Amino acid sequence: MSAPTDGNLFRQLDLKHPLIVAPMAGGPSSVELVAAASAAGALGAMGAAYSNAAAIEAFADQVRQRTERPFSINLFIPHSIPEVAADRFEHAVAATAQYRQELELPSPQLEAPYEEDFDAQFDAVLRVKPACFSFVFGLLSADHVREAKKAGIPLIGTATTLEEARTLEDSGVDAIVLQGFEAGGHRGIFDAAAADPEIGVRDLLAQCVGTIRVPLIAAGGIMTSGDIRSVLQAGAQAVQMGTAFLACAEAGTSTPYRGKLLETSERRTRTTRAFSGRFARGIENRFMDEMDGEPDAILSFPAQNKFTRDMRGASTAKGSPDFLSLWSGTGRGELWQGSAAALIKRLFED
Ligand SMILES: Cc1cc2nc3c(=O)[nH]c(=O)nc-3n(C[C@H](O)[C@H](O)[C@H](O)COP(=O)(O)O)c2cc1C
Repeated sequence: MSAPTDGNLFRQLDLKHPLIVAPMAGGPSSVELVAAASAAGALGAMGAAYSNAAAIEAFADQVRQRTERPFSINLFIPHSIPEVAADRFEHAVAATAQYRQELELPSPQLEAPYEEDFDAQFDAVLRVKPACFSFVFGLLSADHVREAKKAGIPLIGTATTLEEARTLEDSGVDAIVLQGFEAGGHRGIFDAAAADPEIGVRDLLAQCVGTIRVPLIAAGGIMTSGDIRSVLQAGAQAVQMGTAFLACAEAGTSTPYRGKLLETSERRTRTTRAFSGRFARGIENRFMDEMDGEPDAILSFPAQNKFTRDMRGASTAKGSPDFLSLWSGTGRGELWQGSAAALIKRLFED
């Protein structure tokens, strides 16, 4: 079987609803959430960026024990960076020493590699053969595209500008997530060091409809059935929603993170590089506020992500949201705490 090229990706997937429940690496995309989303007629998506090959295969097995419906797997495109220089590391350590003391953590070590081995992750994806493979932060290499097509796995790339969408289309993807500035989590910008183009999802959609021929999936701040209707009417073939599902019963969202999400329906978010070295949108907290004032103490992605992992883990263990990445989009309103199936039903009732 070869991957579809006729623009009918969503028809081929036979989804009941034109919805991808966003891949959310780092916990929220639990086995239970992915399986529940797929079983309810949406496309559940595993956020596998921080998982090694064995964990990806084990996760997929567990989803398949719960549902026969299609699901996707998502990875981060790697960008190699030079080894962190000793003086930069010392600066980062000094800027965070107070936090590690408060969290009762030892002095940190940081060694390359700073992220999982992408080729090993990708080989696991080929073995699992999910209904779709999606990725963020750039282009899949021509070899990887060829291998996915040979295995019959459709590809979904992520764009934050028309130019990125054009490049993705030329690379052979079957659909593109248009990620607006409203989106929770990491910005999908190809170049981690570039300024954020800050284009909202509706503007991005308007630029891409009629120009990009593969199906477009709108993402960013989409919370209600009205939001879904408006982007579908504007030319999107599907939506990808993350924040709206973060407080669902099945989500693996940690307790202090959930607490912050539910504290107020007017979540104050902004983008920051403080946690990972890449722009990502989350609820404002102490770590973000203080580290954003010290940009020179923030390492490049993905080194900063590895460097802050111990603090994020200890913060979660202590039940404190102060040093946690609290990814969330700009969408307002109370978050649904019932089952993902009930939320999907509500969103598509009419
Ligand atoms: C907690 C969280 C984690 C995320 N992790 C990923 C990820 O691993 N891969 C990815 O492609 N997108 C990730 N995203 C971004 C989503 O794919 C999507 O663009 C975003 O959730 C849409 O905006 P919304 O949160 O306002 O619905 C994440 C979003 C959140 C909220």
